[in-house]
Amino acid sequence: MEFLYIATLAVVGFWAFRSILRKFWGTADRGNEEDATNKVVVITGANSGIGKATALEMAERGAIVVMACKDMDEANAAIINIRKTTGTGRLIPMKIDLASLDSVRQFASDLSKKFDKVDILINNAGVLVSGKLQQKTQEGFEINFGVNHLGHFLLTNLLLDSLKKAAPSRIVTVSSDVHLKGLIDFKDLMGENQRGTRNPIKNKHYANSKLANVLFSFELARKLWGTNVQTYCASTGLVKTKIVKIPFPWRIFSSLIQRIFFKTPQEGCQTVLHCALSKQCRYETGEMYQHCRKWLPEDRIPIRREVASRLWTVSEELVGLKKDK
Ligand SMILES: NC(=O)c1ccc[n+]([C@@H]2O[C@H](COP(=O)([O-])OP(=O)(O)OC[C@H]3O[C@@H](n4cnc5c(N)ncnc54)[C@H](OP(=O)(O)O)[C@@H]3O)[C@@H](O)[C@H]2O)c1
Repeated sequence: MEFLYIATLAVVGFWAFRSILRKFWGTADRGNEEDATNKVVVITGANSGIGKATALEMAERGAIVVMACKDMDEANAAIINIRKTTGTGRLIPMKIDLASLDSVRQFASDLSKKFDKVDILINNAGVLVSGKLQQKTQEGFEINFGVNHLGHFLLTNLLLDSLKKAAPSRIVTVSSDVHLKGLIDFKDLMGENQRGTRNPIKNKHYANSKLANVLFSFELARKLWGTNVQTYCASTGLVKTKIVKIPFPWRIFSSLIQRIFFKTPQEGCQTVLHCALSKQCRYETGEMYQHCRKWLPEDRIPIRREVASRLWTVSEELVGLKKDK
């Protein structure tokens, strides 16, 4: 009897605690959204975590969702899974490996043959790899910087004409609160002189790449001023996904902690949806968002315009966009 009492108390307590958290985190307001029916929405990394949850929500709203994924089997498995929840919208799997600039170019070319416009681009895919492992992209860039920033930088630039054709259109880049710990050191962009760590909170290489996402989104807004292509940078908060790989046996303990304090992917994608669809931020561009609202500049570290502009120029050189011009 006593056990039953404690168990009931624990369940009710958990439910009440999660309800309070959910209220604080916010939910995309479906009653105040642009109509997503038949909009072409490209989501990178849509087979898993936040990307998959976003794909499901977009399909529910009737969108044509291009699921830009590294592994086609994973993409197809995600589609089967999403279809158990919703039968609306279209889900189109397409191959992209953001760790290969050739693959990004191939994807952009394949996409332009399928669709002459893109309404919403969601730069969501990401890796969190310890600098200790010294993993590199195909072109030899540090993996976090290469996939999270450079891959998306090239992809966005290649899709700009399609986004302009669909204007008013939106670009959402998924960053993280961890960007606050990042640093763009132009003498060591690949972080070769930085110590690698497995600790996700202290992972400098990841933090730098997430800061690059923020600066990119900010500078993109300046470049696109007057085109009616708006840019948004979303910070999702802590979400229970597979991006953080915790070894056994810590995984059991951390899984419990995550279940209590972290967002589910469905909760984690709400700010992304807010940026992609909300009428409330229709006329905003170059801003950051968390908890489904604007993250005011006075509450975070200021973005230095000259750093954003220089990072853009260097990134153009690194991905070979200067040659294309
Ligand atoms: N989870 C969090 O607490 C948290 C917090 C703040 C920000 N974020 C950001 O949220 C975004 C989504 O991450 P998540 O948490 O949903 O993690 P996730 O479940 O691991 O999803 C990451 C996605 O990125 C894809 N991806 C990785 N490398 C790729 C590549 N080279 N080319 C194409 N796709 C690639 C993965 O594909 P595979 O499945 O094939 O590997 C997967 O679909 C990331 O940008 C992350 O930085 C997450």
